[in-house]
Amino acid sequence: MRLAVVVAREHAERARRHLLRSGLIDRERRIVSRGREVEIPVLEAPSSLPVPFTLVEQEAPRFASPPLSFERLKRELRGVIGERAEMLRGGWELIGDVLIISLPEELYPQRREIGEFLLRFHPRARSVVARRSIREELRYPEAEVIAGDRDTTTLHREHGCVFRLDPCRVMFSAGNMEERRRMAQLPARDEVVLDMFAGVGQLSIPLAKHASPRKVLAIEKRPETYGFLKENISLNRLEHVMEARLGDSREVAPRDFANRVLMGYFFSPQRFLPKALEALKGGEGVIHYHTLVAKEALDKEGGALVERIAELGYKARIAHRRIIKSYAPKRWHAVYDVVVG
Ligand SMILES: C[S@@+](CC[C@H](N)C(=O)[O-])C[C@H]1O[C@@H](n2cnc3c(N)ncnc32)[C@H](O)[C@@H]1O
Repeated sequence: MRLAVVVAREHAERARRHLLRSGLIDRERRIVSRGREVEIPVLEAPSSLPVPFTLVEQEAPRFASPPLSFERLKRELRGVIGERAEMLRGGWELIGDVLIISLPEELYPQRREIGEFLLRFHPRARSVVARRSIREELRYPEAEVIAGDRDTTTLHREHGCVFRLDPCRVMFSAGNMEERRRMAQLPARDEVVLDMFAGVGQLSIPLAKHASPRKVLAIEKRPETYGFLKENISLNRLEHVMEARLGDSREVAPRDFANRVLMGYFFSPQRFLPKALEALKGGEGVIHYHTLVAKEALDKEGGALVERIAELGYKARIAHRRIIKSYAPKRWHAVYDVVVG
């Protein structure tokens, strides 16, 4: 659905600036003047604006240029590298103004030409990064700047939150966007929340900003990522509700204090389950348990998780489960919302 915010002409500039700051403007469509009103294309409905507005489905959108699609990219890239453009797979991710693509090994020798092309192709790209793989455990992305600015630290805006990060040095996945949005909508009012694998605050910042918790403790083991986490807490003005702690969550998370635990780390998460259960206040609460599964085993894995929790001495049920994204052939990143107690 192509949404637009309609405001009176005299309010247009104020509304535009506000929407720009919240990262809500859809830059693929043009802002259109219609008589005394202005239509500003948006990616999603704003929760509020400092001026009166209505939200409409745009009937006659005008595109800034032909819509940016991966198909169009491949078509135009043919003009640069010919048929080999077909080898490009998997789309792109735009994190702030850093454009990330996965390059198959065969295209690496032409990466500079491809990068320069992408820099011209995408109006928001300041740097183009080719990503190979993400190493397990601490998840250092293996990435190379193939065109544009070599400094890839950027500001990424999403769901009314802002994240400062360097996607070449810390993990931030476009595929997790829906899960980040879901965190903002959790019924967590007045709760105490523990984020055991905080990263740069991907999950706990939207929660802290929009779900009105009483306190959020965000733990991150890697010093560099922890630095961004602390910055993001202050950029989002969440110091009053959110605390960052450096260390291994198994060692530094307190016991018996949280109503909700985020376990956003899917490599053998069962290792961390005893600590997550111990952190729940009075042994009760909700755990958001991320893991890797085969799609057809989604429910079976949920059953196994409940059993594992029972072996640790707690009663649990799965209140919700969903696939977040594909991770590898036949391996899916899934999340289970487990109600304990
Ligand atoms: C995959 S990122 C996920 C970030 C965020 N939770 C999300 O789901 O988008 C996982 C983060 O957990 C951190 N981490 C891994 N093991 C940890 C541990 N034992 N204690 C605290 N943080 C840990 C990593 O450094 C990394 O930043």
